Amino acid sequence: MTQDIHSILTEERKFVPPKAFTPRRIRSASQLESLRQSARSDLEGFWGKLAKTELDWQTPFSHVLDRQNAPHFRWFEDGNLNVSFNCLDRHLSTRGNKTAIIFEGEQGDTETLTYHTLYERVCRFANALKKQGVGKGDRVILYMPMIPEAVIAMQACARIGAIHSVVFGGFSAEALKDRIEDTKACCLITADGGHRGGKIIELKKTADRALELGGATVKNVIVFQRTGKTVPMISGRDHWWHEIVSDCDVACEPEWVNSEHPLFILYTSGSTGKPKGLQHSSGGYLLGATMTCQWVFDLDDSDIFWCTADVGWITGHTYVAYGPLSNGATIMMYEGAPTVPDGGRFWKICEKHRVTVFYTAPTAIRALMKLGDDVPNRYDLSSLRLLGTVGEPINPEAWMWYHRVIGQSRCPIVDTWWQTETGAIMASPIPGVTATKPGSCTQPLPGIDLDIVDSEGNSIQASDKGGYLVVRQPWPSMARTIWGDDQRYVDTYWSQFDGKYYVAGDSARRDSDGYFWIMGRLDDVLNVSGHRLGTMEIESALVAHPCVVEAAVVGFPHDIKGEGIHAFVVTKPSETQQDSDIVETLKQWVVEQIGAIARPDVIVLVDNLPKTRSGKIMRRLLRSIACKEKISQDTSTLENETILSQIRAAEPN
Ligand code: PRX
Repeated sequence: MTQDIHSILTEERKFVPPKAFTPRRIRSASQLESLRQSARSDLEGFWGKLAKTELDWQTPFSHVLDRQNAPHFRWFEDGNLNVSFNCLDRHLSTRGNKTAIIFEGEQGDTETLTYHTLYERVCRFANALKKQGVGKGDRVILYMPMIPEAVIAMQACARIGAIHSVVFGGFSAEALKDRIEDTKACCLITADGGHRGGKIIELKKTADRALELGGATVKNVIVFQRTGKTVPMISGRDHWWHEIVSDCDVACEPEWVNSEHPLFILYTSGSTGKPKGLQHSSGGYLLGATMTCQWVFDLDDSDIFWCTADVGWITGHTYVAYGPLSNGATIMMYEGAPTVPDGGRFWKICEKHRVTVFYTAPTAIRALMKLGDDVPNRYDLSSLRLLGTVGEPINPEAWMWYHRVIGQSRCPIVDTWWQTETGAIMASPIPGVTATKPGSCTQPLPGIDLDIVDSEGNSIQASDKGGYLVVRQPWPSMARTIWGDDQRYVDTYWSQFDGKYYVAGDSARRDSDGYFWIMGRLDDVLNVSGHRLGTMEIESALVAHPCVVEAAVVGFPHDIKGEGIHAFVVTKPSETQQDSDIVETLKQWVVEQIGAIARPDVIVLVDNLPKTRSGKIMRRLLRSIACKEKISQDTSTLENETILSQIRAAEPN
């Protein structure tokens, strides 16, 4: 398999750390090297010391890492702590009046919450949850807009030991129902709506639909009033947030939980039709979130940190809801789209709120770059000191624009590689210390034993050869299992090299400086606008439509989204004739089944799919067609070769 992995990117530019940036956390190459070295020589001592100094424990741990049931590693196992205590209470005496959250709604409304206010609101809501019967270990689904209450609800769950599972507000009723059923959640927290793209996203309506479709375990629905739009409330089941908190106390003793107690479950796509609910821990996860904020974002008390990710994704968990708050930093939260009222909105927010660290996805950078330099040039971006990217390989052109126009050649860029499964950043430049190259996430962080190996598991050092990206040693913020399907966890991540390595599912190569270059996914997972989508998941949605016999989905390069979705669909002629625009109907169907992010860019109707004689769909062939490439692979195993010319003829120009 690895002989197929070859690199076509030859980026030679290298940027030494800008002089204007003075690092505060890791200050020099020698300090970085000594951290790496201490982790290499004593992994447990390294993480154990950080866990003691950086987190507050109610019962200190005596044992750092338990490897007995590998690949089920346990970190700080006999320690007890509370994540919300670490994010809030411990700052109150020194930072009570410091701003924790600056919020701006899409319509321009703003709100500022100090640590003290945030603490009180979290406690109140935690007490309200308890009154609804939610307790330790119970699952709570959040389906919320990007407003402070999303963070408050997450922190409140953490406070009482309930396990949250945030479902991105763009997912459909069907997808929401599946996640409720998989977690067997007892409570659903949503809002009457949220503002995005100049429209109201009707979250409550979708939540109601999800509960009509299933999700019978949900006994209570808590609704935050955001838009003021009338929504139906079912008596006994639905409760207004503001009403249930009104008589709740502003203090709530944290539930001290074991370090391994699940903090949250977050779903991500895999190579089957069913998303995986990755289960994360409390102590180990929080340590990863806390340390990476220091090492990668150089966060200190003076920063205003803006991670633009929605809390529905892992990035929004680690770098909005937990990591910065654990460090006592100030976060910026924005509810809406980057182009409302125009493409200057992000830059206007940076100017207005004096954002110092800005972290976003390449897809957003590309979209904003297209609008021209004039747009950001209208704003004063002098408060920015550091820029970051995440979610997909950033193309050098977008990197250069980000560097030149947004960072004004003054700000280091941290290209951070990580995953829902890793919990926190794994590879990234250290700002002000590591020289950067456009498109490379440079090197692993201290304590992270990242490697690139061939199919035998041997480390590849040669710079022209790609291989499997693996992690050779456990790390504290790693996911612990797949909720309800531990075997899938073992099979997906640990089976390829007999449990020796965690297999990330990405291919990568290393250049002659030892820098890592992520080349993309090795499985049938697409990266659309920085979001993972399984091709099987979209195929399952398509074949669930009565008109569809068979479907195959592949990715193709897309200017803005990174990867676009291309579906080849075999329909039933009898059913299809009745619909004059079956392609549009099917696109809409996928939106209803999964959500708008999964809407196929192209659907081509075909009579048949190319298959091997054993009946396997030849996806690589379809990918070549979707990418408009010459077919270089062997087609001799194809059952019906004429099908290819038929499919090509059906392709849009
Ligand atoms: O393929 C890699 C890509 O995104 C995948 C993880 O997706 P998800 O779990 O949704 O988390 C995204 C945010 C952490 C990875 O397997 N990816 C993520 N960051 C980068 C990246 N690819 C290249 N460079 C990155 N910086």
